[in-house]
Amino acid sequence: MKKKVCFAGKGGVGKSSCVILFLKYIIANFPESKKLIIDADPDANILDLLNESLGLYGTIGGEIIELKKKIDRKEVPPNVSERKLIEETILKNIKKNRQFDVVVQGRREGEGCYCSVNNVVKSIIDTLEEIYQFVIIDSPAGLEFFSRKTAKDIDDLILVTDMSKMSFHTIERLIEIKEEVEAKFRNIWILVNKYNANTKAPFIKRIEEFSNGEARLLGFLDYNPEIQRINFETKSLLEISKDNPIYHQAQEVFSSLFK
Ligand SMILES: Nc1ncnc2c1ncn2[C@@H]1O[C@H](COP(=O)(O)OP(=O)(O)OP(=O)(O)O)[C@@H](O)[C@H]1O
Ligand SMILES: [Mg+2]
Repeated sequence: MKKKVCFAGKGGVGKSSCVILFLKYIIANFPESKKLIIDADPDANILDLLNESLGLYGTIGGEIIELKKKIDRKEVPPNVSERKLIEETILKNIKKNRQFDVVVQGRREGEGCYCSVNNVVKSIIDTLEEIYQFVIIDSPAGLEFFSRKTAKDIDDLILVTDMSKMSFHTIERLIEIKEEVEAKFRNIWILVNKYNANTKAPFIKRIEEFSNGEARLLGFLDYNPEIQRINFETKSLLEISKDNPIYHQAQEVFSSLFK
């Protein structure tokens, strides 16, 4: 089993929380596989949700910017290729955990510039995809990340939405711009998070209408106060109890990715 999965959507809809629920799913179901999370969001840090800090490890974005400056100033060994130096930087910055590894993209190069973020994420995937069975990307909010070369051959793009009109608009736009995106997505899914209504029918109808066969409904994850509480108490969301209904919902929802 080898899979590259990317979570995207509007700010605050729960992308990072869903990344961790998915991680919990694959830890439970594929315990032996090597798993990597790429935190591609320059503004947020998934390690917060895991209640960990970067510690000795840096952010790759920052290190690569420093490396590029050194290359420009010719302060690197002349007989080593730029590609090799970038690979070494990436490998040095993998934060290893017992159950999974994490790399953090970190700061962006200049306000509003996503191209460098995308290039760095692409380098990370190119370097590491052979090593890991599962690569999970937590992407930044918004559309810019997808409008340039990002990653190649992602198996599953999961567009997360909550119940707000705006977050639906964001995923509608993401589906629209798919054609302009160089990354190839084998499957595009829509995951409704923080669901809190009496009937799913209007959401299902709306998703069917706008996705136009391009995207499939992955499922619904309920609004769950425990997620908020764990977040507030800065505990790791990975520790969410198996007694919590969201655990079982997540197991069911994510199993669809493997059918
Ligand atoms: N199913 C849920 N039920 C209740 N609260 C949730 C749920 N999913 C996420 N949240 C809460 O919503 C907030 C945003 O979640 P999260 O940080 O995962 O979103 P995000 O899309 O990654 O945000 P950003 O765009 O800032 O990276 C957090 O307070 C989180 O605890
Ligand atoms: Mg996030």
